[in-house]
Amino acid sequence: MKELLPGVYEVRGSPATVNLVPGMRVYGERLVREGDREYRLWNPRRSKLSAAVLKGLSSLPIREDSPVLYLGAASGTTASHVSDLCPRGVVYCVEMSRRSMADLYQLARRRPNMVPIMADARNPEGYPPLLERCELIYQDIAQRDQAAILVRNADWYLRDGGEVLMAVKAKSIDVSAEPWEVFEKEMAFLKEKGFRVREVIELEPYHRHLLRARKK
Ligand SMILES: C[S@@+](CC[C@H](N)C(=O)[O-])C[C@H]1O[C@@H](n2cnc3c(N)ncnc32)[C@H](O)[C@@H]1O
Repeated sequence: MKELLPGVYEVRGSPATVNLVPGMRVYGERLVREGDREYRLWNPRRSKLSAAVLKGLSSLPIREDSPVLYLGAASGTTASHVSDLCPRGVVYCVEMSRRSMADLYQLARRRPNMVPIMADARNPEGYPPLLERCELIYQDIAQRDQAAILVRNADWYLRDGGEVLMAVKAKSIDVSAEPWEVFEKEMAFLKEKGFRVREVIELEPYHRHLLRARKK
């Protein structure tokens, strides 16, 4: 089995993770048993992180025991694969939609390393006090001020040397600007706030862009 990145395998031509809860599907994904493992195929059309793996993301800083902060978890499609990647860690899933949160609660009942947090990511100081400093913050919220929201969360909850992955849809940030202008601005903002941008992955034809940066 080819390992694309730690914990992410290529199964039947698709990225896949080892199912933390064998037999359980989260969003209708295909399950494939190989030897003593069950893999969940990770659909790049449903998940920007899977698309980024396919498009050559060079590193995914999630270890088996990593704490990860996930901003904009929605119903848990991508977050569930992150939970597969850190079976002895935790995925803190921040989401402000009540409807999505109802799905996340159901999911977390079966996946003990997922912790749903109903909150606006603009206010990280209001998260439950149990939240620890994380190795990775993954952000997928499509807000105009998403870089500022990310930095605020990193100030509270990212370890020194930790990394951020930010899904960027340029048109959600500024409809009138050229996408490259938006990227330049977002990257300049992160640099000014003490991050080193490591890579920018274009996700077409699946989605938009994913930006990876490290806190100095
Ligand atoms: C594109 S969807 C996320 C999809 C998800 N990351 C996945 O791959 O499965 C964006 C989500 O971000 C949430 N969101 C947007 N702004 C937010 C904010 N300020 N705080 C928390 N969640 C937010 C929305 O409610 C929505 O569920």
